[in-house]
Amino acid sequence: MQNFVYHNPVRILFGEHTIAQLPTVIPQGSRVLMVYGQGSIHRNGVYQQVKTALNGWSLLEFGGLEANPHYETCLKAVEICHQETITFLLAVGGGSVLDGTKFIAAATLFAGDPWSMLADNAPVERALPLGCVLTLPATGSEMNGFSVISRESNQEKRGFGSPHLYPQFSILDPSTTFSLNDRQVANGIVDTFIHVMEQYLTTPAQAPLQDRQAEAIILTLLEEAPKVRTIPNDYAVRANLMWCATQGLNGLIGCGVPQDWSTHLIGHELTALYGLDHGQSLAVVLPGVWMFNLKLKQAKLAHYARRIWGMTEGSEETLALAAIERTEQFFRELGVKTRLSEYGIGPEAVQAVADRIKARGLTLGEQGNIGSDAVASLLTMRL
Ligand code: NZQ
Ligand code: ZN
Repeated sequence: MQNFVYHNPVRILFGEHTIAQLPTVIPQGSRVLMVYGQGSIHRNGVYQQVKTALNGWSLLEFGGLEANPHYETCLKAVEICHQETITFLLAVGGGSVLDGTKFIAAATLFAGDPWSMLADNAPVERALPLGCVLTLPATGSEMNGFSVISRESNQEKRGFGSPHLYPQFSILDPSTTFSLNDRQVANGIVDTFIHVMEQYLTTPAQAPLQDRQAEAIILTLLEEAPKVRTIPNDYAVRANLMWCATQGLNGLIGCGVPQDWSTHLIGHELTALYGLDHGQSLAVVLPGVWMFNLKLKQAKLAHYARRIWGMTEGSEETLALAAIERTEQFFRELGVKTRLSEYGIGPEAVQAVADRIKARGLTLGEQGNIGSDAVASLLTMRL
């Protein structure tokens, strides 16, 4: 096992009616800016719950943040933070709202061009404190220090992270997720699934606890996913999906083990260039990454085939290939398409994405063997 430091300071308030506890977790006397998206919180009653909980507080609002939050929109909120001397940010929505809020928190106190935090890894030395009311289980952003921002002007999608970006608290009320549509639910399940895979499906690392923690999340997802379709108003199912998503990317299962993340980085380029949802982009790319690195990942793929899918027959290679096929089938059963052509994207995308990986000088994967040529080959398999 590799050495690691694990410190996660996020206070989780999980369960029904927890939004009412907001006044107990936001520092008294704060000037709060509530940040939200394009209106879902007005339709599902979450906005009103927050307003009721914070009645009497100094509370300003910034609505309109997009899915895949735009850099340009976030900068407008930064201006408000300066003008109104905001001291606390409250994100209310999905991962995009939370990521946008993290960026606003950092950019408000950043001296210099804020894009450099995303493009040049300029260190984030401080940020406004923030908290979150999460309404969409997917990203794990509610319990991590990462954020992904999209810049419209040059179609770039970039991530950054800092210990200063952990929310002080995250309120996870599964009943806020009843209003999600099938596509958003399926995207969230795929995103959670692939967060786990980026930290699990690499090379054997003699870390059986982390393996089993990852497998626990995957097996729970496989059990709960079909239920959310047939009994969409079941609170327990929503609660399990929400907790799986948080556990998938709060750093725990990644302690001391190799990590991949190539599916995410390639997927972000597909979203930036062609507008695929985050979950959709991942479902397209993952089988390609696994096929490209079949030899490297064969032992872990076979282990995954046995542990998750109960497969026992055949060679290591046969098991590995069967696991890749079964995984893609799982995405399709959720209703998420897995081929570029199914999203109307043609062969030109292969070189366009590979060129971007080349321009950024990226070498991806747990062993750094996925450069631009590799990206072109694996995307060709996904046309
Ligand atoms: O904008 P509103 O009106 O709120 O609508 C949103 C949006 O249209 C809607 N929605 C959210 N909660 C809802 C709801 N609709 C009905 N009922 C509810 N309860 O859902 C749509 C999608 O929301 P979004 O926040 O974009 O989805 P998600 O949570 O999947 O976030 C995706 C973003 O997170 C980034 C992605 O790249 C993408 O930009 N990621 C962030 C990560 C992190 N910070 O650690 C890791 C992830 O891998 C990912 O990259
Ligand atoms: Zn993701």
